[in-house]
Amino acid sequence: MTSSAPAVEARNLYKVFGRNPKDAVRRLKAGQTRTQVADVGTAAVIDASFSVQPGEIFVIMGLSGSGKSTLIRMLNGLHDVTSGTVTMLGDQITDVPAARLREVRRDRVSMVFQHFALLPHRTVADNVAYPLELRGTGKTERLAKAEEILALVGLGGWGDKLPSELSGGMQQRVGIARALAADTEVLLMDEAFSALDPLIRREMQEQLLELQQKLKKTIVFITHDLNEAMFLGDRIAVMRDGRIVQIGTPEDILTDPANDYVEQFVQDVDRARVLTAGNVMERPRPVVLDTAGPPRRVARDARQLHVGGLRRRPQPHAAGHRQRPRRAQARPPRREVADLDAAARVAERRRVRDPVESVRAVGRVVGAAGGDGCRGPPRRGHSARHAARRARPRAELDR
Ligand SMILES: Nc1ncnc2c1ncn2[C@@H]1O[C@H](COP(=O)(O)OP(=O)(O)O)[C@@H](O)[C@H]1O
Ligand SMILES: [Mg+2]
Repeated sequence: MTSSAPAVEARNLYKVFGRNPKDAVRRLKAGQTRTQVADVGTAAVIDASFSVQPGEIFVIMGLSGSGKSTLIRMLNGLHDVTSGTVTMLGDQITDVPAARLREVRRDRVSMVFQHFALLPHRTVADNVAYPLELRGTGKTERLAKAEEILALVGLGGWGDKLPSELSGGMQQRVGIARALAADTEVLLMDEAFSALDPLIRREMQEQLLELQQKLKKTIVFITHDLNEAMFLGDRIAVMRDGRIVQIGTPEDILTDPANDYVEQFVQDVDRARVLTAGNVMERPRPVVLDTAGPPRRVARDARQLHVGGLRRRPQPHAAGHRQRPRRAQARPPRREVADLDAAARVAERRRVRDPVESVRAVGRVVGAAGGDGCRGPPRRGHSARHAARRARPRAELDR
């Protein structure tokens, strides 16, 4: 397939549970609300559309009951759709015979569940090898493959144990290993880490990203946890009462929430008043202080650096001293929403060519941004406090 064709595509998906789903959908399409159609059924998913690119981690985030599980289960046919279509790797998989759906689940898409769903009386290796067994792979081959994948998720040597002999985090690794053993291009993960303790959970998140670097699967990941969504997601769809209310990158969601609900969600998750990475970081640009040397040389340096006019350092006693640099005034007020940790992870995750954006600990940037007028990054190796102390108003060149 071409790289531009989505791996998974959902078009106007509806799922209504209850007495008369079709009638409910008809009425929803005519503009009635979820509450208004409650007499004929529960509208779990309403008009959901999105596409997931190959290799992308697409997170679906929302409160409990917002329809996440129902939505993801329509992607692999565990739930029929009431209306709408799902396309998986170019093939429509809605309104197809059950046998075809089983094929799709065997060959194209695997799922990791919140509560592991391991077979208790089979060994760890047999659990991991299960999808291969379904495909008719011989025992020696499938157990060899299982060992290989167990090693990949950090469970080398545990193949002979029973699931009950493993901790929760390890059992979920087995769940992931089983999904990977199937070697499908698409992986669906429904609250896969939500049952784990915070530390283990973080480890699993990191491990998933590491694995993803190697395996480049297309992953649809469900969570009710914003921090997790921010950390893992290339893009995030936010759900409310069955509807997708926003789709965007983590930065979009944090800095430009589509409505009050998303904004509140974002604020409710963590009230720490911290800047987000994207907000405090700017591209590096040449700056020549007007105190850098004789005026002529400064001007020449400025020309060589291809920058525009020269900004004068504010004079300590001049009337304009308290004014912030012009660009700082022009910037919209920063939204102080995410917690530091999430922001740092986003920054790390989004690390790109740009050295400013690659600042490892956002704390340092945040510290520097607190300094009057300094919006540049602190140098590597300086603590936030140190960086803040270093931050001085300075003359700079307009861009
Ligand atoms: N099998 C079902 N029968 C009836 N209602 C259901 C069923 N599954 C889910 N629902 C309802 O659909 C809504 C969405 O549920 P769900 O998709 O499980 O949400 P989430 O995964 O976001 O917590 C809820 O109101 C839930 O009660
Ligand atoms: Mg759920």
